[in-house]
Amino acid sequence: MKAPEHITPPNGKLAVFLPGLGAVATTFVAGCMLARAGKAAPIGSLTQMGTIRLGKRTENRAPKIADFVPLAQLPDLEFAGWDLFPDDAYESAAHARVLDPHHLEQVKAELSRVKPMPAVFYPEYVKKLHGTHVKQQGSKADMVEAVREDIRQVLKSTGASRGVAVWCGSTEVYIEPSAVHQSIQSFEQGLLRSDPQISSSQIYAWACLKEGVPYANGAPNLEVDFPAAHALARETQTPIAGKDFKTGQTLMKTILAPGLKARLLGLRGWFSTNILGNRDGEVLDDPDSFKTKEVSKLGVLEHILQPKLYPELYGNIYHKVRIEYYPPRGDAKEGWDNLDIQGWLGYDMQIKVDFLCRDSILAAPIVLDLVMFMDLAKRAGFSGVQEWLSFYFKSPMTAQGLYPEHDLFIQLMKLKNTLRWMQGEDLITHLGNEYYD
Ligand SMILES: NC(=O)c1ccc[n+]([C@@H]2O[C@H](COP(=O)([O-])OP(=O)(O)OC[C@H]3O[C@@H](n4cnc5c(N)ncnc54)[C@H](O)[C@@H]3O)[C@@H](O)[C@H]2O)c1
Repeated sequence: MKAPEHITPPNGKLAVFLPGLGAVATTFVAGCMLARAGKAAPIGSLTQMGTIRLGKRTENRAPKIADFVPLAQLPDLEFAGWDLFPDDAYESAAHARVLDPHHLEQVKAELSRVKPMPAVFYPEYVKKLHGTHVKQQGSKADMVEAVREDIRQVLKSTGASRGVAVWCGSTEVYIEPSAVHQSIQSFEQGLLRSDPQISSSQIYAWACLKEGVPYANGAPNLEVDFPAAHALARETQTPIAGKDFKTGQTLMKTILAPGLKARLLGLRGWFSTNILGNRDGEVLDDPDSFKTKEVSKLGVLEHILQPKLYPELYGNIYHKVRIEYYPPRGDAKEGWDNLDIQGWLGYDMQIKVDFLCRDSILAAPIVLDLVMFMDLAKRAGFSGVQEWLSFYFKSPMTAQGLYPEHDLFIQLMKLKNTLRWMQGEDLITHLGNEYYD
């Protein structure tokens, strides 16, 4: 990866493509509309509220990130999406019941204009949903072409100069990469014969890559992280990132676990359970979709705690994650954690965390930052996996053979140092010995 010599300015409108117009997507869209009208604050978004320190601590230079790197502006965003239910973004947001009516009513007209395009949907990949607003074309190759045509139409009708996509659709059943996923050629042949190993989400990702539209995956699906997609991303010079937005419980895990490790406190077990009652919870009630989520959630501790380096502290952790569908809760999830930790001489202690969170409220600013940073990456000439955006994901994608970095604080340092590096500023190492010369 080379530092960019030139970053194309963010002129014109930016089309935001959202496969899946459910709770997260509509909370994000409505939030952008409210924020750009000055009616609510985009809390949680680094691109809207974050600052970045430059140079030495004595220089007192800490501009807003948005003033430091050339990002698109909120008023430039045009929203488009696909869903297997025909509800427009207002109806879908009202159904999701994340935002209060007083917020939704203020942007009702604008939200109602965001109508989903018919979905690419193979029901064997999401068994709990039964929608009718779906494309009927023949092969999976035809589906890719149909999505590409949708993208071109949206760019034309909105007058947008470019696009960016973030998967906000459901969690699909667990699959592993197979022969069809190994090369561009094998994948394209698979599309022609409608290979059953090619999922709905992979079709959106493939279409976006073909159109050079940067693609971030907010679900744990096998979607854009297989050799053929990596190769296509490089060939079409398109940035990709994923996977699975790092929100509620895993966010807490990646805040707490680095702290335990920093103080060399041992860990014997970590039990996590969730109750939630939104459509996401209903989809995850299917064991095959839950398996995809479970794999994404379990990797975190292993990578942060490094049991191979610290066998006596972390060599024998019992880590369990449950998700229970409980309709009365709606989107207001409760994530409950019990940690059995050990201190000096092996004495046991416990930590309990009860996070009464709002899933989509935590996810929406992540979608916004990914839109802004993936667009920046494309204009800076980056392509392939954008590991510097690991900060946003439960299960960060990396170059082949590299283990992912899960520690939230290292991820943030990496993100900010990447921005400094892009703009030719000194990286911040926190060494600071020059202050004592
Ligand atoms: N905090 C969070 O909410 C959070 C965190 C991490 C990951 N995620 C993931 O983000 C995704 C969205 O979450 P949500 O709460 O908005 O769920 P949701 O069920 O409210 O929305 C998902 C939408 O995707 C649609 N969909 C499913 N398959 C589709 C397809 N093939 N094409 C087009 N649309 C399709 C569904 O009809 C639904 O409207 C889920 O995969 C979830 O696991 C969410």
